[in-house]
Amino acid sequence: MAHAVPTMPVALDVNTLAQFVDPLPVPEIVPPQGHRSSPTDPPKSVPFYRIKAQAIASKVHRDLPPTKFWSFGPSTPGPTFETRAGEGLLVEWVNALPNEHFLPIDRTIHGAENDKPAVRTVVHLHGAKTRPESDGYPEDWIVPGKSSLYYYPNQQDAAMLWYHDHAIGINRLNIYAGLFGAFFIRDGVEEALNLPKGKYELPLLLYDRLLTRDGQLLYPVSPDPESPWVSEVSGNAILVNGKLFPYLDVEPRSYRFRLLNASNARIYHLSFANDAPFHQIGTDQGLLPAPVLLRELEIAPGERADLVVDFSEHRGAQLVLKSDALVIMQFRVSAGKAIETSSLPSALRPIAKIPESQAVETRLLTLDEFVNKAGKPAMLLLNASHWKLPVTEKPVLGSTEIWTLINPTNDTHPIHLHLVRFQILDRQPYEPWLFQTKRQLHFIGPPEPPAPNEAGWKDTVQAYSRMVTRIIVPFEGFLGRYVWHCHILEHEDNEMMRPFEVIPRA
Ligand code: C2O
Ligand code: CU
Ligand code: CU
Repeated sequence: MAHAVPTMPVALDVNTLAQFVDPLPVPEIVPPQGHRSSPTDPPKSVPFYRIKAQAIASKVHRDLPPTKFWSFGPSTPGPTFETRAGEGLLVEWVNALPNEHFLPIDRTIHGAENDKPAVRTVVHLHGAKTRPESDGYPEDWIVPGKSSLYYYPNQQDAAMLWYHDHAIGINRLNIYAGLFGAFFIRDGVEEALNLPKGKYELPLLLYDRLLTRDGQLLYPVSPDPESPWVSEVSGNAILVNGKLFPYLDVEPRSYRFRLLNASNARIYHLSFANDAPFHQIGTDQGLLPAPVLLRELEIAPGERADLVVDFSEHRGAQLVLKSDALVIMQFRVSAGKAIETSSLPSALRPIAKIPESQAVETRLLTLDEFVNKAGKPAMLLLNASHWKLPVTEKPVLGSTEIWTLINPTNDTHPIHLHLVRFQILDRQPYEPWLFQTKRQLHFIGPPEPPAPNEAGWKDTVQAYSRMVTRIIVPFEGFLGRYVWHCHILEHEDNEMMRPFEVIPRA
């Protein structure tokens, strides 16, 4: 019998679509379904939410049929959470997905073997300081019909976090399918600043997808049907809050945009087509010490940027936001008069630089890529260690460490640690071969301090190719097992993820 040749669905040519015909959607703020008692000592009454992962269809463009997604709400991205620092909340995460996956699972990948159910989810709140049992450990997945009750204490500075699936071995597929959303923590420091708020503050969740001609998600596969994993997926369509080429009507005044790169692998270089400047006021874990004036912003998967754009100089104009040459969205500035009600202070939130002398431990950690016979990436590892090996990173609760990320590969890897926030010390070019053969760190250029817009609290850091990136990390919060990983989801799924364990002081 002849083998049926699978036909690859034809990819959409996005250039054939009209631009700026759909208004930018803003995900709903989800109301709690009541109150319940928190698992704290003493317990208190906290808001309770029940959120269902489900199959949905939603239109990404006026001229395309609805696209099948999985989402935590009636549309993608899922609903937005709003809470205040120190106000805990409970979420029952329900897996109400179908029993079959609609994207290609690679059964050779760890955690996704043939004996594992196809559809599994577990939710992680990225950027949250949460107990391990509520952190969404990749092996804590549940199958359709089940749910998990997670508690988020929110004892941390105001920031935009994001929740997303974290199921081992299929995380790249589940997030690609649409399982993520935004989570805002507010606090008094932020509120005292009189930044743009209400309808003048909007999340911009950016992610690219490969769409077929009939507007459906296409997740590319390798030529090997036994092992369909590919090392990075970038799409032909860049969606913002679920729409392709949306527009937003704005008044000629300042707006605050809370940007997230929720893409599997794409790094954006965002700018306005007319080169208009804008300010970045915050990063992953909240406000920067001072606004930073930018004309271009680089943002990698997992990272967030808090931006203020002043449209008052652009009355009646149309500003296009792009990434390199790719068009993302349009801002239509009304011609009328607008009243500026916000202000941009020169100082935001003080951030004390952690002295290196505070670190009690320095860890050298490599980012490794292994290629197959064809020279194609076959697997990526942290510190040349598989996920299943015993835990090697065991920071003591309350101590500070320096993690030295050594990247001999040709890619930038956005490295994310759960539970903690950290500061970037520096990046320095080194000679990879000497390190590989003799484990000698030989630097071939001076250390570069973080850019001003990275000089705040981070939870995801871009480890540049052929550079050593050093971060300083206070391990605060809770004891127990967490993970750190590359946020390029194809890398993370194929073993570029390791556990770490916060242990008590001896
Ligand atoms: Cu965005 Cu392990 O997470
Ligand atoms: Cu995280
Ligand atoms: Cu990576």
